[in-house]
Amino acid sequence: MSSPGLLVVLASLCLLTPVQPEGQRAHDLMLRYPLIDGHNDFAMQLRKVYSNRLSQLDLHNVSELTTDIRRLRAGHVQAQLFAAYVLCGAQQKDAVRLTLEQVDVLRRMCAEYQELELVTSTQELRDSRSRGSIGCLISVEGGHSMDSSLPTLRMFYQLGVRSMTLTHNCNTPWAESSSKLYDVYKRRNSSLTDFGKAVVEEMNRLGMIVDLSHSSWETASSVLQLSRAPVIFSHSSSYHLCPHHRNVPDWLLHKLRDNRGVIMVNLYSNFITCRDEANISHVADHFDHLRRVIGAQFIGIGGDFEGVGRFPKGLEDVSKYPNLIQELLQRGWKEDDLANVLRGNFMRVFEEVERVRDELSSKPPSEEQVPTELVQNPCRMVLRPPDLRPRSLDHGPTSRAHHGPNLLVALNTALLLSSLLNAS
Ligand SMILES: *[C@@H]1O[C@H](CO)[C@@H](O)[C@H](O)[C@H]1NC(C)=O
Ligand SMILES: *[C@@H]1O[C@H](CO)[C@@H](O)[C@H](O)[C@H]1NC(C)=O
Ligand SMILES: *[C@@H]1O[C@H](CO)[C@@H](O)[C@H](O)[C@H]1NC(C)=O
Ligand SMILES: [Zn+2]
Repeated sequence: MSSPGLLVVLASLCLLTPVQPEGQRAHDLMLRYPLIDGHNDFAMQLRKVYSNRLSQLDLHNVSELTTDIRRLRAGHVQAQLFAAYVLCGAQQKDAVRLTLEQVDVLRRMCAEYQELELVTSTQELRDSRSRGSIGCLISVEGGHSMDSSLPTLRMFYQLGVRSMTLTHNCNTPWAESSSKLYDVYKRRNSSLTDFGKAVVEEMNRLGMIVDLSHSSWETASSVLQLSRAPVIFSHSSSYHLCPHHRNVPDWLLHKLRDNRGVIMVNLYSNFITCRDEANISHVADHFDHLRRVIGAQFIGIGGDFEGVGRFPKGLEDVSKYPNLIQELLQRGWKEDDLANVLRGNFMRVFEEVERVRDELSSKPPSEEQVPTELVQNPCRMVLRPPDLRPRSLDHGPTSRAHHGPNLLVALNTALLLSSLLNAS
């Protein structure tokens, strides 16, 4: 008990107590308020590098990537919005299948590792925290994933998806992207279309968080006017400090504050300094600016790890978040404000989204459909009973009535025969 070594340690601890170094303070704060991060593209890397074969890697230690369980733990990341993202090139092809595969791989990942847990509500999010596990929230990145279909959106919800960015880098037939990279669905009026409004209303009804990262400012503006629930920018930074179209200008931030939403700061160097190089001071400048413009209650963190290539010095992977908190403490940020930035603000938004869902519980599912001429493409079939008659026998619409039942009889006979054959 009274060994001189212990005394020295105790004495030095006492000396340190009045002015606790910010590094330790950051860790202590994050132990109490572990991070909920807005955006991570791990699932995209799973597809790119491993063809979604989870068995081929150990998620505890994935040295070729910037995210793994070991480093999420070290970074005090308690919950992560994982993006189910598929390339814009899939929009008029198999975007829905690819998205389902990304949702599947995320669900598998979060079930197969005991450190992870799929969460679909604020209650489950809090429970995952008490159990000491990392909560996985699934977020569809890009409205093209739902192929302009509200039933598809509802099925995403059933699978556990709890947020969706309205666009990625491509327009959809109903919302506009901030990027002009893809030459699709160009419109004169770049706000939401009527169907786009139905999407937002359905997301409000379901309890799905609307994510405005990647949307054009006009689209974002119409959503902020329309949405009954607060929204997020899950991975965007300040346009004032780096005028990139993916960032948010001050006038739009004011609307976000009125909506009580959250902007979760993207750490990608090119969105921080608009250059390839950045460091923690540059990132902290974004937090300072956002706090000046809208206040700390409307700020969060959305790292965008695995989605982009270059990260600021000192924030190279998901274990480094405490360095950022340390810098903000050094700049005089209050612990209460940082607690909200780390998780309180996102929790508030998610709780509000659930409350709006409960308020709308008597509203029936929307049967709004996108105008067919807007989504015509060879991969989209309009379902009708198959017409198998040879073309030459086509005598116009009246003949269908005769053939329909005959076709059914033939089908039934075939089914009966095949079941008899199989049974033998
Ligand atoms: C992680 O894996 C790499 C090789 O893939 C290995 O060199 C390293 O030692 C491992 N780290 C830990 C902490 O297990
Ligand atoms: C664009 O469309 C929105 C919603 O339909 C409408 O409110 C707005 O006035 C339109 N803007 C222009 C310039 O036509
Ligand atoms: C970041 O870089 C700037 C110069 O661009 C420099 O003034 C600042 O001290 C650097 N901050 C850190 C933490 O290295
Ligand atoms: Zn993105």
